[in-house]
Order: sequence, then C-alpha cells, then structure tokens
Amino acid sequence: MLRKGVILAGGTGSRLNPLTRVTNKHLLPVGPEPMIFHPIRTLVEAGITELLIVLGGESVGDFVRLLGDGSEFGLSILYYAHQARPDGIAGALRLAERFINGEPFVVMLGDNVVDSSIRPYLERFAESPERARILLKKVPHPERFGVAVIRDGTLVEILEKPAPPPSDLAVTGIYMYPGDVFPIVRNLKPSGRGELEITDVNNHYLHAGRLDYDIFPGTWTDAGTFPSLRSAAETAWKVAEARRDKEKKEPI
Ligand code: DAU
Repeated sequence: MLRKGVILAGGTGSRLNPLTRVTNKHLLPVGPEPMIFHPIRTLVEAGITELLIVLGGESVGDFVRLLGDGSEFGLSILYYAHQARPDGIAGALRLAERFINGEPFVVMLGDNVVDSSIRPYLERFAESPERARILLKKVPHPERFGVAVIRDGTLVEILEKPAPPPSDLAVTGIYMYPGDVFPIVRNLKPSGRGELEITDVNNHYLHAGRLDYDIFPGTWTDAGTFPSLRSAAETAWKVAEARRDKEKKEPI
C-alpha cells in the first residue's frame, strides 16, 4: 500500500482577498478546523504515513506551530518544503523529488475538501504504480478547473480552464503519480499565465498511454474562491459532525 503523500499549500490565495492579505489561505477556517487539516486527514485516513507539505509565503512558522511533527494526525513523518515563488502547482510539486525518492505517491492540493474516503483509488493505483491516476468530479462550473474530455469511456484530453468547457468533468486536486514524474515536471515550460501547470503533467501521462481515472462519487470542492470556501465549510462541518458521532460510538 502507498505510504508517501504530498500536500501543495503554496500559492498566493489572491482570489480570497482580503481574507488572505495577512493570513495564509490554508490557515483559514473551513468548518471547525483550519483548511490544511482537511487534506491531511484525508490522506492519513487513506493510509498515508509519510507526508511532505509544500508551503509558500511568509507563514511557514505558523504551519509548524499548528502541525508540529504531525503525530496528532497519526503521521510517522512530517516534512515541510518552501516554494520561494508561486510558479504553479507543478512548480510546487518539483520540490518533493528528494522526499519521494522514486516511489509512487499521492498529491493533494491544500485547498481541496472531500466528504468521503479516497482509499479505494489509492489501492487501485497501488496495483499499477507505473501508471498515473486522477480523480474526476462532475461540477456545475467546470470552466474554473482542469476539464477532462472522455470519449467512449476513454480519457482523450485534459484542458486547463477551457471556455467554453467541453464537458462537466473537473479534474480534482488529487493526483497519483509514479516516481518518474519528476523528469516530466523538470522539463515543463510555463503556460500562458506564467505557471508550471499540473494539467501539462497529466497530459504527458495521457499521451504516453499511462493515465487512468476514476469518477469520485462523493462531495468534492476546492476552497479557493468565496463561493467554494463557503461550500467547503458546509462539507467540512458535516464531515466533522460524522467523525464526532463515530468517536462517541467507538470511544478510543
Ligand atoms: O482544485 C482543482 C484544480 O486546481 C484543478 O482542476 C486545476 O486543473 C488546477 O490547475 C488547480 O486550479 P486552481 O486555479 O484552483 O489552482 P490554484 O492556483 O487555486 O491552486 C490550488 C492549490 O495549489 C493551492 O491551494 C496551493 C497549491 N499551489 C498553487 C500554486 C499556484 C501551490 O502549492 N503553489 C503554487 O504556485
């Protein structure tokens, strides 16, 4: 089973200004906990024990004070890396190369929130760890995301924030990669918006015939805009309440 995970929590959070003028986006409350708790809990529940969090901006000390060595979450190892410039999601991923050391792993974006386990998809990925795997989700506004084009059940293309969107299937911020993702990331060129795009990494695997997908049946949202921050909070409250009820029934 997979043991290594990476959470990408760099970037500027500019779409949440003024909330992010002083506070890092991933420290904002989402339900009863800071945003960053959600991807950590999601990965730990799925079996991840060794985690790297990529941070940006000036709040590194705040994250270390908040998360410490990760043992509160059940992690055996928690490392931190710092992304000096917000040069894109794939730019942040590049910093994980030494931590990953050639092993297959899962990546989750620091502003993604789900209401149910991703363990089944990690298990499927672990059966063919030389192939990459992404999770897709039907959404009402796909033009805000990476969008997957599927023909006759086959994934044929992923487009980053296309207008108009060719389908309603967003690419969620949960990605599973073989250890050989890093040469691909190192050879990326910045996109029109000046970022190293994770969509280019996924298309690389797609065109090499090495990309699988699942459609996530649960609730998924990001929390990077005001409307999505609000729905992420609603989801997070439900998840927290379900966890509390479960803990009441099964005292630890
Ligand atoms: O949430 C899923 C979507 O995330 C995907 O559908 C898109 O394909 C993908 O590009 C991304 O789109 P966003 O526009 O929502 O990405 P954003 O710039 O908001 O960054 C999302 C997270 O990625 C952020 O919370 C932290 C991390 N990040 C982002 C950037 C730009 C970094 O760690 N470093 C960065 O430089």
